[in-house]
Amino acid sequence: MSAQLIDGKALAQEIRNGIGKDVEALVEKTGVRPGLAVVLVGDDPASAVYVRNKKKACDTAGLHVADYALASTTKQEDLLHLITQLNTDPKIHGILVQLPLPSHIDSQEVLNAVSPEKDADGFHPYNIGRLVEGNPLFVPCTPKGVIRMIESTGQAIEGKRAVVLGRSNIVGKPVAMLLMHRHATVTICHSRTKDLPGMCREADILVAAIGKAQFVKGDMVKSGAIVIDVGINRLDDGRLVGDVDFDQVKERAGWLSPVPGGVGPMTIAMLLANTVEAAQRVAQR
Ligand code: GUN
Repeated sequence: MSAQLIDGKALAQEIRNGIGKDVEALVEKTGVRPGLAVVLVGDDPASAVYVRNKKKACDTAGLHVADYALASTTKQEDLLHLITQLNTDPKIHGILVQLPLPSHIDSQEVLNAVSPEKDADGFHPYNIGRLVEGNPLFVPCTPKGVIRMIESTGQAIEGKRAVVLGRSNIVGKPVAMLLMHRHATVTICHSRTKDLPGMCREADILVAAIGKAQFVKGDMVKSGAIVIDVGINRLDDGRLVGDVDFDQVKERAGWLSPVPGGVGPMTIAMLLANTVEAAQRVAQR
């Protein structure tokens, strides 16, 4: 059997086209143009690429982008001061602080400083709390995209066994919450899980977010499963691969998302969606 591809790139493009229309409708009706502040500190090359792609997607969909590229030596207090300004800037509806921040900066303090109402990444403790309650304001972008990709298969989530590989605050934990709220039976696995391959083989839905290149092999996947690959890893030969061994797993899975062209473009589309939703909330007040 060969898995059906979950084409994140095409799905994201469709969503972004819809967002572009929503933006113009909002501007026409209320005069409010959704605005995203993108804050990048330092010169991490991967972050620079992510931020460039996010800004480009915003431009294309008609969002206002305020770009803040700060030196790696930026002081914590200056970054906090900028965020305080953005929190009250009426042109800005979403604030994105690209992670990781340089090591001299206390990332948690910075994320806590973002107004929960402008927290387009959904990383503020208030938004994490709302997510856990099942009453989210902002859902983190990658997890939101993962759910949209699973839904795109047309398969029910309710009653399924889902395994999430990885327990990060950005992906593993929120994906698990979202799946649980959709009535899947969810297991979170990590580096200290016993019999991890056996756990994975039980999964009707497998989400891999552990940051290990090609970790999920064909014999770890249940026949017909939905497999979402959140990983982005660079091999020594320069190739970009996910956490899933694509060639092996495509022979067993029912559906499989590729890397690149899977979760990555969906994360960006969901960032736009979150920013537009924030602007719509402001316009409704
Ligand atoms: N770094 C890696 N992924 C993300 C993300 O989704 N948002 C932000 N702000 N930084 C990241």
